[in-house]
Amino acid sequence: MTPLLELDKINSFYGPVQVHFELSLSVPEGKIVCLLGGNASGKSTTMKIILGLLKPRSGTVRFAGEVITGEATPRIIRRGIASVPEARRLFAAMTVRENLLMGAYVRADRQAVAGDLDRVLTLFPRLAERLTQRAGTLSGGEQQMVAMARALMGRPKLICMDEPTMGLSPLFVDRVLELIAAINREGVSVFMVEQNASLALAIAHEGYVLQAGRIVLSGPAASLLRDPRIRDAYLGGAAAA
Ligand SMILES: Nc1ncnc2c1ncn2[C@@H]1O[C@H](COP(=O)(O)OP(=O)(O)O)[C@@H](O)[C@H]1O
Ligand SMILES: [Mg+2]
Repeated sequence: MTPLLELDKINSFYGPVQVHFELSLSVPEGKIVCLLGGNASGKSTTMKIILGLLKPRSGTVRFAGEVITGEATPRIIRRGIASVPEARRLFAAMTVRENLLMGAYVRADRQAVAGDLDRVLTLFPRLAERLTQRAGTLSGGEQQMVAMARALMGRPKLICMDEPTMGLSPLFVDRVLELIAAINREGVSVFMVEQNASLALAIAHEGYVLQAGRIVLSGPAASLLRDPRIRDAYLGGAAAA
């Protein structure tokens, strides 16, 4: 079956500096796939490539079987890819409700949007209690939830998350991971970037390990969890950072 998202032999650069070397990975429809790697291994840049924020020098990005490499970001979002970026980028001065509605700005079906707000809030009851609170006054974990809920408001087929557990207290880390699994059970495919291998692999179906812009290991999450090279890859990543 054609994967929902496919990166094929991506080479990317910032000026003269190469970030990705023949990067290939895929997200099958309905799955959670995680991209693991230490600091500066090229994880966030992978998100930029998927979202059209950086054009690779060579290689192809396909979504639902169609080539989307080099397309403008709004067009990619309209295809059904939502992102929860690093540091979450909420509108701090706006309320939780306003932030959530911003996630649906590409949609014209206003009545369905109201229904989706209800549906999303059942997944995030904590946010339902805070709809009129300014987003900037929420805790880190709550802000992460707003970012995830906002992404869902666009009815995406694929949601891309950059280090969703970073900086959260252990309690919120578990809660956010549970929510990612719940979003996936609703039928949304997930591509998540994480430094924390054991946490990410606990909810993922498949994983890839990125080291200095190259995939060095990949496979089903359960077998990666048992693989001693995961540990080595992380020590390597940490030493290089
Ligand atoms: N806008 C940029 N301009 C130049 N170099 C960048 C830029 N963003 C990231 N880099 C470099 O690209 C490499 C990969 O960065 P990144 O994808 O952010 O890694 P990760 O998310 O895995 O920490 C790093 O060496 C980083 O310094
Ligand atoms: Mg990053």
